[in-house]
Amino acid sequence: MASLTLRNLVKSYDQNETVHGINLDIQTGEFVVLVGPSGCGKTTILRMIAGLEAVTSGSIHIDDQDVTHTAASKRGIAMVFQSYALYPHMTVRNNLSFGLKNMRYSKQHIAQEVDHAADILQLSDYLDRLPSHLSGGQRQRVAIGRTIVRDPKIFLFDEPLSNLDAELRVQMRHELGKLHRKLKSTMIYVTHDQVEAMTLADRIVVLDSGKIAQTGTPLAIYNHPENIFTASFIGSPKINLLPGEVITNHQGRLQLTVGPDIAIGLTREIPTLKPGDKVTLGLRPEHMTPTVNHGDITINVVLDEVETLGDSTYIYAKLFGEIDLRIKLQGQYSFKDSDRLTLGIDPRDILLFDAGGTAIDPRPENNESRLAPQNDVKGQRQT
Ligand SMILES: Nc1ncnc2c1ncn2[C@@H]1O[C@H](COP(=O)(O)OP(=O)(O)OP(=O)(O)O)[C@@H](O)[C@H]1O
Ligand SMILES: [Mg+2]
Repeated sequence: MASLTLRNLVKSYDQNETVHGINLDIQTGEFVVLVGPSGCGKTTILRMIAGLEAVTSGSIHIDDQDVTHTAASKRGIAMVFQSYALYPHMTVRNNLSFGLKNMRYSKQHIAQEVDHAADILQLSDYLDRLPSHLSGGQRQRVAIGRTIVRDPKIFLFDEPLSNLDAELRVQMRHELGKLHRKLKSTMIYVTHDQVEAMTLADRIVVLDSGKIAQTGTPLAIYNHPENIFTASFIGSPKINLLPGEVITNHQGRLQLTVGPDIAIGLTREIPTLKPGDKVTLGLRPEHMTPTVNHGDITINVVLDEVETLGDSTYIYAKLFGEIDLRIKLQGQYSFKDSDRLTLGIDPRDILLFDAGGTAIDPRPENNESRLAPQNDVKGQRQT
């Protein structure tokens, strides 16, 4: 177990800088998940931490030790890759012990470590099998077992579950969560899967083109994204982004127009905004409901497409015939394409971003009271 510090970590391939000065402090025992679009530098960062890729500039510390130029084998880090590449001709036991044999540990020590890892990963019954006689999930457990036997200070996982089918992924996700609670090791985990990120992470790091867009707990990232990039990246279906303009702003009352003809009022103190300022409103798909509550903003939409998932219904709709909206409702509805629908929005659920895409108003926790009806500026179709 160890802490990890990245300072101004930069990676260039030829003349192209792909990782641009990453600063990150990971605490001992923390489970940190890196997410970001393909090509944003996740694997490169893991490989630099592991010592498999040279650092162009910056430094890596494990606890108080500078390991920037330490050989991979001396860092006490173990990495699990997407393709788990077990030795096909070796039994599970030999796959697990191979690395330790190379390091010339005693037979007794190796047997102990292998039994311990097999026990943790529920592989004890499979130790004499070949990988070809295991399921995908069992093979991935062997790959993880190979790292556990080395008792690393830090575990790195690069999309370890992406080759597994949906059901196995869920099972392995639970097992990884349990493994972390059992080992209490420092783990850094790369995934494209939002559910894995939200459920496994103590902290999520969102990467945008080789830079950190935001770091925070899963719920902080979801509820209080600091920029449009993070807001759009986390959440499925994707957050709705609506163009808005400030009409008036005084005494904590912000009046905005959205799209061609909707006026809304928000109770927010944002002294920096002035009439004419362009803003973007962020609205999560689950924050629109067909039941309109007291104090809600209302909008009228025309449905484009309805997807019935059983537990929930996804609706793709148009606002003013031009703005696409994604709506997620719990439960089943008998809406049809082209239906018209009035939706209610709690004004507290609206996120605001400035013209540069930065959150200008961190979403109020629970301190924005619902608008009193006489003051409420309902969204109105004026046509
Ligand atoms: N050996 C290399 N030589 C040149 N460019 C590289 C090399 N390895 C990675 N890159 C580039 O660095 C960038 C980051 O790649 P990286 O593999 O870290 O992305 P990633 O976030 O892991 O993507 P993915 O989600 O697809 O795995 C990409 O633009 C990639 O093309
Ligand atoms: Mg990658």
